[in-house]
Amino acid sequence: MSSMISRNFFLFLSQNKFAKKKAMKWGPKLGAKQVIAGETIQEAMETVKKLNEYGLVCTVDHLGEFVYSREEATASANHCIKALEAMEGAGVDCNLSLKLTSLGLDVDRNLCRDNMVRILETAKKYNNFVRIDMEDYTHLEATLELLHELRQSYDNVGTAIQAYLYRSESDVRRLKGVNLRLIKGAYKESPEVAMQKQAEVDRNYLNMIKVHLLNGSYAAIATHDHRVIAEIKAFTIENGIPKDQFEFQMLYGFRTEMQKEIAREGYKMRIYVPFGEDWYGYYMRRLAERPQNVRFAIKGLLSK
Ligand code: FDA
Repeated sequence: MSSMISRNFFLFLSQNKFAKKKAMKWGPKLGAKQVIAGETIQEAMETVKKLNEYGLVCTVDHLGEFVYSREEATASANHCIKALEAMEGAGVDCNLSLKLTSLGLDVDRNLCRDNMVRILETAKKYNNFVRIDMEDYTHLEATLELLHELRQSYDNVGTAIQAYLYRSESDVRRLKGVNLRLIKGAYKESPEVAMQKQAEVDRNYLNMIKVHLLNGSYAAIATHDHRVIAEIKAFTIENGIPKDQFEFQMLYGFRTEMQKEIAREGYKMRIYVPFGEDWYGYYMRRLAERPQNVRFAIKGLLSK
């Protein structure tokens, strides 16, 4: 019950402009720097290099979402292109994650598509891959439509599917052959569209992963849940699914020992490395997911 209240509280804060303005001043003090790899692409590349040395591959995300002007959307796409160039220049094992609302999905869908095309052309030149994060339910249909359109010309693009949505199993079946990140889901959604009980979400999550793997499709299993990871390891062995048909993913700064252990076992382990100035929404969702994450904020406030 109390964790439900704190989840709702932090999800409310994640979209509250007044709280954002206040919190941005306190950034590092709130502990955000433990889960965000700095504000610049150079800082992010330093982090990625260190993670690569531990055998961990990465995906970087230039933080930003819910952009409302054409200029901001274009600037955000330019950041993505610079990030791809920086990865190539640094010779790191890393791909790109992004949010369509940061590229203008709510401003003008054609602009958003054009931004994606510019990013995918750059990624193609460097033989790299781009993952479209999944945002809240109001953006789901537009995201899947754009993905479908882009995949007519590009195969280096995939998205993420959230297990809390009732429709997701059928989306996973429809997206056979697409590189999908499979997740439980991080936003507050209504009971009309999303399961509200954790046990139900967990069941659907395992089911979705198994459906996609048995379909012969590539799955990025993005979770910190050791029970899911253990079950998927056993499932892939029992079903003869090769290690190069899937990868595990975790967020930068979470369960870092487990990340290294999974890589040592010979599994591909990808770390989601967020960077940039617009860290607020991302950080609030992390606090919402797990009340214990608040310790980052408390530690930060207590530090000098
Ligand atoms: P969950 O939070 O359900 O925890 C399950 C159990 O695991 C806990 O009860 C605890 O025992 C253990 N555990 C979890 N975290 C722990 C920790 N830090 N330390 C110790 N034990 C821990 N969401 C979205 O909507 N769209 C997206 O595009 C993405 N993208 C994305 C990428 C990546 C790489 C990750 C890892 C996650 C996302 N998410 C996301 C977020 C995702 O939807 C989900 O909200 C979080 O991952 C939390 O769910 P988990 O599956 O990690 O475990």
